[in-house]
Amino acid sequence: MNRKKLIVPFVLVGLSLGLAALSQEEKRGSGDPEADRIARGFQISPVKVTLRNRDRNLVGLGSYLVNAVGGCNDCHTNPSYAPGHDPFMGQPKQVNSAHYLAGGQQFGPFTSANITPDEHGLPAGLTLAQFKNVIRTGHDPDPAEGGRLLQVMPWPTYQNMTDNDLRAIYEYLRSIPHAEPGP
Ligand code: HEC
Repeated sequence: MNRKKLIVPFVLVGLSLGLAALSQEEKRGSGDPEADRIARGFQISPVKVTLRNRDRNLVGLGSYLVNAVGGCNDCHTNPSYAPGHDPFMGQPKQVNSAHYLAGGQQFGPFTSANITPDEHGLPAGLTLAQFKNVIRTGHDPDPAEGGRLLQVMPWPTYQNMTDNDLRAIYEYLRSIPHAEPGP
């Protein structure tokens, strides 16, 4: 018998065993917390991410930090949930992906910013250095605002994040589609 023909079934059995092991791993967690967070990040992003030649691990981790930890959607998407899908009203949850992170929520005199990429691909129009500076110091990045301190925005908590985590959030925000605020 042709040796090539013999090899095929072995390869197929090997492949299916590998896949079974992978799905077991998904249930138990991989034992590598960082890898778990990256994988979960990709599962929960409410919008499609464009990876191009970005660092995949940073984007996945960034999605995890934005969508499972940071709660950015609660303030930066208006309204946060799609019509008929507001979990606070006992409805099945679905994030308002059409206006995801495009800002426009009103908090007294303050309005949350659009933090999706601008026409140059910069989230909230900020470079990585500017983004880190906003989160670490709370100073408004718009020079016209004279460096006033951002209100409502929980920067006093986010400023505790590691450099790598802030970079991950930035890379995720760079990978999501531009959007405009909901009405
Ligand atoms: C509790 C509500 C709230 C949450 C949660 C929140 N933000 Fe904000 N954020 C705001 C508001 C309101 C502003 C505008 C504040 C102002 O003008 O004083 C803002 C401003 C910003 C700015 C400054 C943009 C600019 O150009 O002025 C950035 C960047 C930002 N938020 C990123 C984030 C990210 C990333 C997250 C999640 C990790 C997040 N925010 C979570 C309310 C929030």
